[in-house]
Amino acid sequence: MKVLVVGKGGREHALCWRLAQSPSVSELFCAEGNPGTAQIAATVPIAAGEIEGLRCFAQQERIDLCVVGPEQPLVDGIVDEFERYGLRIFGPSKAAATLEGSKSFARLVMRQAGVPMAEGESFDDSAAARDYVLARRTALVVKADGLAMGKGVAICEDREQALDAVARAMDEHRFGAAGSRLVIEERLKGEELSFFALCDGERALPLGIVQDHKAIYDGDHGPNTGGMGAYSPVPQFGRDLEDRVMREVINPTLAAMSERGTPFRGVLFAGLMVSGERLNVLEFNVRFGDPECESLMMRFEGDLAETLLQVAEGRLTERSFGISPRSAATVVLTSGGYPDKYRTGLPIRGLERIEGSDPSAAKVGWALKRVRLKIFHAGTALAGGQLLTAGGRVLAVTAGAAELHDAIATAYEAADMIEFEGKHLRRDIGRRALQCGVQPVTGAAHGS
Ligand SMILES: Nc1ncnc2c1ncn2[C@@H]1O[C@H](COP(=O)(O)OP(=O)(O)O)[C@@H](O)[C@H]1O
Ligand SMILES: [Mg+2]
Repeated sequence: MKVLVVGKGGREHALCWRLAQSPSVSELFCAEGNPGTAQIAATVPIAAGEIEGLRCFAQQERIDLCVVGPEQPLVDGIVDEFERYGLRIFGPSKAAATLEGSKSFARLVMRQAGVPMAEGESFDDSAAARDYVLARRTALVVKADGLAMGKGVAICEDREQALDAVARAMDEHRFGAAGSRLVIEERLKGEELSFFALCDGERALPLGIVQDHKAIYDGDHGPNTGGMGAYSPVPQFGRDLEDRVMREVINPTLAAMSERGTPFRGVLFAGLMVSGERLNVLEFNVRFGDPECESLMMRFEGDLAETLLQVAEGRLTERSFGISPRSAATVVLTSGGYPDKYRTGLPIRGLERIEGSDPSAAKVGWALKRVRLKIFHAGTALAGGQLLTAGGRVLAVTAGAAELHDAIATAYEAADMIEFEGKHLRRDIGRRALQCGVQPVTGAAHGS
């Protein structure tokens, strides 16, 4: 089949990489892609926001399946547009994507479905929001209801900060329309996990648990970023948690969405907070996470295109894919200064030592250890044959190995072979898992 991937980051490169290995894929396109996707997919110069343009292209090229990476086009209705013209597309409808597009809607569905979440309420009026803050005794989190590019959530130490957050969103309109409604929640403590499940509207199958690292510096210090690294599985939390999340979160949510007449198709990504036996959903996303997707694709087994088509057509079966018991780790290389101001256009060196035909000592070692390594492009550009930095997150170095510590060590070995001015990375990706000393859970999740 002819497959079109929409997006241009590390997540989309990882999806293209796995799709390119699908026996059912005859031709692969990526809009608008990056120098990494360009090595395996034809680049289509249409931005993810140009929904009509993408649909026209899919019609002209007779695309059999479109796979959408980022959330904005999903929330804007790209799936409805494609389906109106009889085109197959992997992702939720606009109505179902509201699970990510509106945090108050997500809470409404969770309440209806009995999904555990933080205590809280939503507000359209700043006076009522302020009254609520003043009446609460616990620490609070103030969230813009709509998409705010990861900047709409304020974790507040005290009432003063919560009142400031309300004022910023509702009086100063700091997040535009996304902040005209707010969700105010109790502040939960615990460990954060990302949980992914493929859903075909009626049934769901788990893709697994991933832990990402949002803060820019080691030890979770400094401002939040789009994501500095990830690893999967998360050995501290085994199959028990996976089963529990399917039972308490994914399946009831899917049933509630179906009952509302807006069945959810695509990948449902639950952001979880886990503390002892306490499990709560922080938010839903309706697409793959980045960099979680890079680690997940390293573990995915089977024909990805066929699996995603099954989801799109509402006929997902247990046998369609498997998740490797091997571990994956992703280390993101960022531009100096990110997530604030940073320079771009700086030459990147060292990739050819890792990816080229030259058998460097490292490559020989990885082959002997049966370690797999892939460098996904996030913010890069090509100029006259030279690879340059072109974004805050530049590359997502991803390794897969039988043991998590090998995957992490290999990702760092490769990350250290890559050079560009101002390069930054976290040194503690997966450290929590290594410190707990538990070996990864073995045994494939399901399927063949
Ligand atoms: N109720 C909560 N208690 C504690 N921390 C929270 C809570 N809700 C969100 N957070 C923190 O804020 C981050 C962002 O919130 P989230 O709901 O995921 O919104 P978004 O990803 O849209 O910014 C989470 O990753 C988590 O670290
Ligand atoms: Mg989040």
